[in-house]
Amino acid sequence: MRIAIGSDHGGFGLKESIREMLESKNIQYRDFGTYDTNSVDYPDFAEKVAAAVVSGEYDRGVLCCGTGIGISIAANKIPGIRAALCGDCFSARMSRLHNDANVLCMGGRVVGTGLGLEIMEAWLETEFEGGRHAKRISKISAIEEKNKC
Ligand code: RB5
Repeated sequence: MRIAIGSDHGGFGLKESIREMLESKNIQYRDFGTYDTNSVDYPDFAEKVAAAVVSGEYDRGVLCCGTGIGISIAANKIPGIRAALCGDCFSARMSRLHNDANVLCMGGRVVGTGLGLEIMEAWLETEFEGGRHAKRISKISAIEEKNKC
């Protein structure tokens, strides 16, 4: 699996821990920044990671900002992205099982490193259930189609 990761300054610490975790598990990834704690704008990183996932170059994305809210809102503007903001392992698993979420968003100032890494692991190891949920994902795609500019 290839993972695209990114954050703003508010999610930088958590993104760094995620990067170390991916390194230690030998999971292929690309870090789209930010690369330090200087103040930046989260939509820039949401767009980079989302584009990398939608293009098929990366299988999934992980985005962190302070709360996870701004970066998830921004990522979900890219057609084809199903970004799930998760603050617990149950939601992370369900976002894969039922929603086929292709981007995980977290708030570095909300979950911290310990819980953040557990959420990440739960999300990474869970596959989409398909079945009745596939029809619902198709309906999301249909909404995107209908509202294309
Ligand atoms: C940056 O201070 C903060 O607004 C950002 O990281 C995020 O929480 C936005 O939703």
